Amino acid sequence: MELIKKKKILLLELLGFLILNVLTFCMAAKHIATVDWIVKETSYTRLCSTKKILTVNGLFPGPPMYMRRGDRLNINVRNKGKYNVTIHWHGVKQLRNPWSDGPNYVTQCPIKPGANFTYEIVLSNEEGTLWWHAHSDWSRATVHGALIVLPQLGKSYPFAKPHKEFPIVLASWFKGDVMEIIETALESGAEPNKSDAFTINGQPGDLYNCSKQGTFKLVVDYGKTYLLRIINSIMNEEMFFMVAKHSLTVVGTDGAYIKPIKTSYIMITPGQTMDVLITANQAPSHYYIASRAYAGVVYDNTTTTAIVQYSGKYTAPSTPSFPNLPNYTDTNAVTNFTRRLRALATKDYPVDVPQHVDTRMYITISVNTLPCDDNSCDGPNGSRVSASLNNISFVEPSIDVLQAYYKRIKHVYESDFPNEPPYYFNFTGDNLPDTLLTPDQGTKAKVLDYNSTVEIVFQGTNVQNAAENHPMHLHGYSFYLVGYGFGNFNKKTDRKKFNLVDPPEVNTIGVPTNGWAAIRFRADNPGVWFMHCHLERHSSWGMDTVLIVKNGRTRLSSMLPPPRQLNPC
Ligand code: C2O
Ligand code: CU
Repeated sequence: MELIKKKKILLLELLGFLILNVLTFCMAAKHIATVDWIVKETSYTRLCSTKKILTVNGLFPGPPMYMRRGDRLNINVRNKGKYNVTIHWHGVKQLRNPWSDGPNYVTQCPIKPGANFTYEIVLSNEEGTLWWHAHSDWSRATVHGALIVLPQLGKSYPFAKPHKEFPIVLASWFKGDVMEIIETALESGAEPNKSDAFTINGQPGDLYNCSKQGTFKLVVDYGKTYLLRIINSIMNEEMFFMVAKHSLTVVGTDGAYIKPIKTSYIMITPGQTMDVLITANQAPSHYYIASRAYAGVVYDNTTTTAIVQYSGKYTAPSTPSFPNLPNYTDTNAVTNFTRRLRALATKDYPVDVPQHVDTRMYITISVNTLPCDDNSCDGPNGSRVSASLNNISFVEPSIDVLQAYYKRIKHVYESDFPNEPPYYFNFTGDNLPDTLLTPDQGTKAKVLDYNSTVEIVFQGTNVQNAAENHPMHLHGYSFYLVGYGFGNFNKKTDRKKFNLVDPPEVNTIGVPTNGWAAIRFRADNPGVWFMHCHLERHSSWGMDTVLIVKNGRTRLSSMLPPPRQLNPC
């Protein structure tokens, strides 16, 4: 009797506890604001011609979002454009919530014209500058914007509070229709067209035709310090960025703080963000901000500019002073900057880099070619350009990998993405044999155990003499960049030199041209996560894969259930 009673009471208690929990959860859920976004075609005039571009709410760049550390927000995206679209929250870990991550056919089917989808943005320890962008075909060229994560209410930055802050969004401008450009290129097998301009906050700047009027102006007061939240949303080029006569202090990257770096220039890859302080301490005047490419194999060699304009009375110069940007091919300038990146690593912003590794992966990154019937394609020697990771060129499935994984639908993807390349050769050698050109094709994922520690060494290759810097990006995580170097990774000697003390915590790294980069992270976010090169043409050619992180044993270490409404493929 006694026992049964006790059990009953326990049960009641449990029930009460559950109801209370559900209630508070619902109450909390009610407070999550929902914002409406409309994706639509909008006319824009740049470089002396007008065209329709895909935008969010008519804006290029798109609306900046401001959130605070740990916040949640729902965004209902309604597609009133003519192309399928999805949106990705670049750098947001989306703990347990891959359903809202966005990559087309990886975590969702596209939002078709006329349809909508509500994304739930779940912030955790991200703080600083992140961004959002379309993640379907090449629509991110114009569909992107800043996602700024401020410190929690009552907390401040780990540096003196700047007077003001400005998002600085770098982007590519194509005279043609971007969606047609990539479609035609994929059909013919050729390199897609280069962009016609780069832009700073939507404006190409003084060095392009018909652009002078719109040039972005950063108005500053003498003596004050400003925070620039720089985002590289450019499609296919890494960029140098500099301000004439002013030094820059980088204090954060990819939504995490770093030890301040005082520098005259930065190098930022597509996908990366940098928080940069600049003090208006020069003679009141106008000064150029300029940005141009660090050379890839094919690249737009134009220069975009904006102007730092001091407030007050003075005679403005007819030509403001211009910064002395590193040369296009200055790999030393890239290395000298990148090697200074170190995590802040303080009590408030700790580093938790795995010292011991459960799963090791060694992944080669190559640009390849696929044979064409009668050599009739427009790539090298009549072939079709392609790209791969560990010699597998990623093929977009017909329904998303996440849905297939969750519902155990067969034949959508395979779980055998390899831990190492199929054959070893001098990856970074010159004139490698043609037999290395052709990749395998498939939709292959790597499955990781929950909470396992992972090390990935990305190895650039010189297949097709096409070595270049590849900005590798992983969704659902930030990871520690523990080492990098040139040539082939040497597992005996290079691992000993890893920085396991204060490596920067990032979500995108530029793997050095003809070199390697090593990252480590703990697989503590269950879900399906895309990993790819953030040069858009490489990603379109198959330089992608998927990491599937299994659920842990508890509810809180498992993926959330899917939202009520999933878009059909
Ligand atoms: Cu900027 Cu797959 O992302
Ligand atoms: Cu690449």
